[in-house]
Order: sequence, then C-alpha cells, then structure tokens
Amino acid sequence: MEELFKRINRVQDPANLQGLEVKHAPIFHLPEVVKAGEPFTVRVTIGQTPHGMEGKHHIEWLDLYAGEVFIAHILFSPVLPRAEVEIPLVLEESTTLRATSLCNLHGMWEGTHQVVVH
Ligand SMILES: [Fe+2]
Repeated sequence: MEELFKRINRVQDPANLQGLEVKHAPIFHLPEVVKAGEPFTVRVTIGQTPHGMEGKHHIEWLDLYAGEVFIAHILFSPVLPRAEVEIPLVLEESTTLRATSLCNLHGMWEGTHQVVVH
C-alpha cells in the first residue's frame, strides 16, 4: 500500500503549506467573530490551491468534527468543479474544528481550526 494511505497526513505549518499540502489541506473559512448560541456558516475547501476534480484524481469525501462531536460526512462526485462545502453550525463554547478528507490518489488529509466563541 502506498505510504500516503498508511497514515493521516497533517499540515506541518498552516501558514506555509508545502508540497502536496497546498492542494490537499482542508481550509476553514468562517466569520471572525463567533458568538455563543448564534448560528454561523463554516465553509471548508480543499487546498489553498483548489484540488482538481477529475475521474482519475479527485477528492472523495470530507468529514467535519467540532471537538469530539461528529458534524457531517460529505461525499463528492468528480463532476463537481471543486470539493467544498458550507455547513451551518451553532457553538456554545470555544472548540477546535477538524476536517479530514480523502484524495483517491494522495490519501487522507487533516486540517484543524481553533474557534474562539465569544
Ligand atoms: Fe490528490
């Protein structure tokens, strides 16, 4: 089995993505201020440079967690132009959002984002 499939690939330095990280790291987009109990939308994209979606090479799925709480499992079809999703969330306290995604050629990738709830 290819080395990339034996482990979860984690970004070493989110401020300076390297190599395969550039197109595979889950990236979080959310409001600067999140208030306790108030709905907001989190958008998760795959890659600082969007990963391609072609039949032979594409992002297959994405899982999202808030802390230890499972939020969503999204299956992508390669007919989509990009692997990205918007999900409504309500948080009561600060937490870490975590996304894992699978590229059919380059394995599983994980990204995290610390959310400070006011
Ligand atoms: Fe890939």
